[in-house]
Amino acid sequence: MKELAHLFENNRRWAERMQASDPDFFARLSRQQRPEYLWIGCSDSRVPANEIIDLPPGTVFVHRNIANVVHPTDLNLLSVLQYAVEVLQVKHVIVCGHYGCGGVQAALEEQNHGLIDHWLQGIRNIYRDEADKFRNLKDEKARIDRLCELNVRAQVVNVANTPIVQNAWKAGQKLAIHGWIYDLNNGLLQDLQVGIRPPGERLQP
Ligand code: CO
Repeated sequence: MKELAHLFENNRRWAERMQASDPDFFARLSRQQRPEYLWIGCSDSRVPANEIIDLPPGTVFVHRNIANVVHPTDLNLLSVLQYAVEVLQVKHVIVCGHYGCGGVQAALEEQNHGLIDHWLQGIRNIYRDEADKFRNLKDEKARIDRLCELNVRAQVVNVANTPIVQNAWKAGQKLAIHGWIYDLNNGLLQDLQVGIRPPGERLQP
């Protein structure tokens, strides 16, 4: 008996359904991908990129990690970003956080979590640097959710500050960075209005 047979069975049925609705679908995608979007999101299993924006394979280039963090030295993320911007020429980079993020919550806790504490250090710094924004939030959930929003904003800035994006903008490439947040309670996305566009195109912040 095949291990995880139900997953292979799911896959076979899915491939059949896709083929039936669009007979050329796989043949077309196997020739090339032309995604317009790079999605930088959280690894949380409840926030699957393609599904929540209801787009099929071939439309979204995806990078996910715990708490959708953009470290300027993360070779994995930078490689994805470079390929997406320079080769695929995506038009939009979407940094998408989500309320109730376990990574953000861990950054607020006193206890040690091991390696993940290093990963989350930047989020703890945001909490410390923007302490005034939390002073009136007594409820822990409200504090976590506010930090989820501020984290998205900070990671949008980190994407915009990479030499990859700076060079693309200098070369005149149309590339917008967006900051969104997803609500696990109702499945809805919200634009946090913290996006950054190329210099000279800053009418919409
Ligand atoms: Co998360």
